[in-house]
Amino acid sequence: MMSTSGVVKSVPTVIHARITGTGSYLPGAPVSNDDLRTRGIDTSDEWIVERTGIRTRHLADEGVTSSDLALEACRRALEAAGRLPDEIDLIVYATSTPDFIFPSSAAILQHKLGIKNGGAAFDVQAVCSGFAYGLTVAEKFIRSGSHRRALVVGAEVFSRILDWNDRGTCVLFGDGAGAVVLEASDEPGILASTIHADGSYSDILSVPGQVSHGKVIGSPFLQMDGKTVFKFAVKVLSEAAIEVLDAAGLNTGDVDWLIPHQANIRILQATAKKLEISEDKVIVSVDRHGNTSAASVPLALDLAVRTGKIKRGDTLLLEGVGGGFTWGAVLLKF
Ligand code: UT7
Repeated sequence: MMSTSGVVKSVPTVIHARITGTGSYLPGAPVSNDDLRTRGIDTSDEWIVERTGIRTRHLADEGVTSSDLALEACRRALEAAGRLPDEIDLIVYATSTPDFIFPSSAAILQHKLGIKNGGAAFDVQAVCSGFAYGLTVAEKFIRSGSHRRALVVGAEVFSRILDWNDRGTCVLFGDGAGAVVLEASDEPGILASTIHADGSYSDILSVPGQVSHGKVIGSPFLQMDGKTVFKFAVKVLSEAAIEVLDAAGLNTGDVDWLIPHQANIRILQATAKKLEISEDKVIVSVDRHGNTSAASVPLALDLAVRTGKIKRGDTLLLEGVGGGFTWGAVLLKF
């Protein structure tokens, strides 16, 4: 802007962060509830469908790692965004089942994608809220102007941390990956985001083990107080939704699609009811892949984009909740 004295005053421009492409990947053939029975688990299709809505899940073959799944999801997201890997200067990778203790799965993924530009790559550990955390973190990098194009990934091989003798948990989870390309843009994308944690609830959902002196100390298997998790999830998902809607000056009527963490159909329904959002505005894919933790929200998003349900310009409310306890929500214009 030219002032009267001829001095040029710089006008700060707002950098938005917008999703420009989505991708997902589910390994192998679907494994049905009846398939689990044939594998010796004392359960039934009726129990699983009635209590969780899950009909199938995907299980990665031995030797396939989280970053292998992430790679496929990222390739699809990059293709959808019309971007080459080397145009990505930031990878934020949400997982609780990383390839190794270190290096990070993000760094491994960067190499597998063939990115050689020296951009940043790191993992985020927020269990099933991982994607909401990752998107929130990446948005802040982009809005600050430090980075222009991010891959935000959620990828898990949860089958590796399940106790297949515990029917109360092993039927609920699956493996998979989802990713988005998030880019600096003049047009609004992410409108508001919020992330939270309360570590005093760490024992209601955990894998309380560690590797020390060459041994696993504690348990390497997932354990959960399902009923407490259920109640907590519905409460915080509703609160986080209201928080981001208020921050953006919108209300539930402005939401075209609610995409909550795909853990259990009953949690999704109860959250929608509490928010007074009609069930036909809720994206549901938990029936296809079970609970894939950090991968669940980007998986549900991509499946709905590719079937044409979600369209450009739609207002989306993404939500995560999980171990930690952690939770978060991201409101965005797609
Ligand atoms: O990312 C967040 C991850 N966690 C979640 O989303 C989990 C939230 N919680 C839930 O979804 C539910 O609490 C569950 C689906 C895990 C369990 O449902 P519930 O209605 O709370 O069942 P319950 O644990 O109280 O178990 C009821 C019965 C028990 O039998 P008895 O004691 O009543 O005879 C269990 O032994 O169901 C039995 N049961 C099963 N039966 C068949 C537990 N697991 C199974 C199974 N198949 N797989």
